[in-house]
Amino acid sequence: MSTNTTDNVRKVTTSRLVEMKARGEKISMLTAYDYTMAKLIDRAGIDVILVGDSASNVMAGNITTLPITLDQMIYHAKSVMKGTRRALVVVDLPFGSYQGNSKEALASAIRIMKESHAEAVKMEGGAEIRESIERILCAGIPVMGHLGLTPQSINKFGTYNVRAREKDEAEKLVSDARMLEQIGCFAIVLEKIPAELARQVAGSLTIPVIGIGAGGGTDGQVLVMHDMLGMNDGFSPRFLRKYANIGEVVNNAVGRYIEDVKSGDFPTVEESY
Ligand code: KIV
Repeated sequence: MSTNTTDNVRKVTTSRLVEMKARGEKISMLTAYDYTMAKLIDRAGIDVILVGDSASNVMAGNITTLPITLDQMIYHAKSVMKGTRRALVVVDLPFGSYQGNSKEALASAIRIMKESHAEAVKMEGGAEIRESIERILCAGIPVMGHLGLTPQSINKFGTYNVRAREKDEAEKLVSDARMLEQIGCFAIVLEKIPAELARQVAGSLTIPVIGIGAGGGTDGQVLVMHDMLGMNDGFSPRFLRKYANIGEVVNNAVGRYIEDVKSGDFPTVEESY
């Protein structure tokens, strides 16, 4: 099967990501939730776009990722797909759409693939959701795992602190990561765990391990776009590098616009018909 798109851009595929790991090329991944931003980051050359359930926080203003629905995730994923030519698009299965039973999980994943045309799904958890992951994989849907800090379980954890610092939790994470590779996941996200543990996991697997707050020893990095662009004022964890201050840019631009409207300086004759 050709992986070229109609305009001859070589599409990123799950197997291409595994090849990138094999030759030591780091994988770049960012979230996006709409057409315009997806188009911008795709043209900039991002490898993977995650339609994250962080849309619940940064798009819908919820405190956690739990309230976002499958319909809402599909809406975001459809918009992102329209703006994307090159990047692999992965969509989070939202809370409540896969934990119940594996048939429900498969039905949710099928809806995402059929209705949005995205290329893979991401699921939080290890052994507890193995049956659901296996059923989805059997239907030919690529699955990215997600271990460590899994925000859909925030009510169980009670905090967003670093996970797997203790031996038992670290051992479970290592065994879950092995299991995810063995059953056929194409990649794993490790969120907010000690850098040394993440390095060990990445070194012991052949599938790519993408980190967020998991140090530099993983095969790639992911950040929430609103956070790295400086659009999310109150959020500054240690792992977050801000590459722009879009919040300030918007504030200045809107401030100038308001002044121009109030003073009658906008629009001018040249800007009128
Ligand atoms: O939903 C999301 O944005 C994520 C990333 C933090 C990995 O799952």
